[in-house]
Amino acid sequence: MLRAPGDFAEWRGAARGLLAGGVPPEEVSWRGSEEGASLFGEEAVPASTGAVSLPRELLEMAERVICHRDAEVPSRLYRIIWRAARDRQLLARTTDDDVVWLRGADKAIRRDVHKMHAFVRFRRLGEDAAGRESFAAWFEPSHHILRLTAPFFQRRFTGMDWAIITPDARAIWHDEKLAYGPGGTRDEVPESDVVEDQWRTYYSAIFNPARVKIDAMRAEMPKKYWKNLPEAQDIAPLLAGAEARVERMREAAVSMANPLTDKWRTRVPDELALDDDEKTLDDIARAVDRCTRCPLYCNATQGVAGEGPKSAKIMLVGEQPGDQEDLQGRPFVGPAGQVLNEALAEAGLDRRRLFLTNAVKHFKFEPRGKRRLHQNPTTGEIDICRWWLEKERALVQPELIITLGASALRGVTGKSASIKSMRGTVHELEGGSKLIATIHPSFLLRLPDRERAAKEREMFVADLALARKLAA
Ligand code: URA
Repeated sequence: MLRAPGDFAEWRGAARGLLAGGVPPEEVSWRGSEEGASLFGEEAVPASTGAVSLPRELLEMAERVICHRDAEVPSRLYRIIWRAARDRQLLARTTDDDVVWLRGADKAIRRDVHKMHAFVRFRRLGEDAAGRESFAAWFEPSHHILRLTAPFFQRRFTGMDWAIITPDARAIWHDEKLAYGPGGTRDEVPESDVVEDQWRTYYSAIFNPARVKIDAMRAEMPKKYWKNLPEAQDIAPLLAGAEARVERMREAAVSMANPLTDKWRTRVPDELALDDDEKTLDDIARAVDRCTRCPLYCNATQGVAGEGPKSAKIMLVGEQPGDQEDLQGRPFVGPAGQVLNEALAEAGLDRRRLFLTNAVKHFKFEPRGKRRLHQNPTTGEIDICRWWLEKERALVQPELIITLGASALRGVTGKSASIKSMRGTVHELEGGSKLIATIHPSFLLRLPDRERAAKEREMFVADLALARKLAA
């Protein structure tokens, strides 16, 4: 008899005992406590720690699949582990009915978890005397996945108290402890709050009418979730106004004048740029601004050198300054910088202690009306600009370099490689620094699909957190 649906530890304890005792699946009747097992006079199976060796992949799947709402799950899973204990190749038998069912159920759970990560919305309840805020969210998952998902929210929202209430169970993070309790009802959670208004404003602001794909949007954000998503009420009006907004954007482009854009017309090469005696980071910054090693200096407002303490253990390398960086003369102060700042904070990295720079030091863009549209630098431009990156590396001597995007990777290694092939592993660079390759934060800004963006962002933060651990 299982007391809590979806409780893997409970099922595993019972299954182990049965397996170790050689009880075949057809002799076991699995019941939930609400089904009144005692009526039948059965004994609950004592939990066992008996060791039975099973493939790790199977146990990982079982931990997810036990959350499936199908009442047959405990017995199907037991039959599968019974068979797997006798047939090590069972999972490889892709047409086997049990295996087909297992993989299908696992997929359903993973999808449900993914949706819950993306669509839980907290409402603010208040704060205690010490100023610690508390939040609550109502969510209706398709399966019993609360225990699978709660650790994700615990990691993400460690600094506040929260409860996630579902019809079957609740997870409560309070006093730095995670606890579970009974299910609840929607009316335990306030309908709206200030955060919700901010969220809706944010959603409307990032809604890009030129990128609307209604079918993809419906597939990714099924209607079933809409009733708990504050932004959902804005979707219809935003979609209805999308075409008009695209038109307005086209017209507005002409008036978004950048007063500094014309500067390039008068910019002339400066012979001093070839001065080769930069002893400090300030010397480098001045020389970068005078650099004429490639034609990109012609159009940019100024050269943007790296920024941060010379003693930094970690150097972050981006691609090139963007529009804002070009105007302000500092790396990562525009929208990609915002994304980066938030991800750094989440990974526990203090930006002020890092050295931030770019593979290419001048902004490359294409004038479009009076706007300046980012253009990727060529490998030739990146290679020429390595001159400066290497000078910065020689002065800072970071223990670890994080490259953001493919241009940065090329700038640091001098070779072209896919980020995918390098990601997740720590590489050694000539000269002793370590290298972690990850995506560029602007990649996250370009993803129209929020769920995918959330996943990518999570991986990005994980890469940064790995860097923090290594440098510590
Ligand atoms: N993108 C970059 O790669 N670097 C910056 O400094 C800003 C945006």
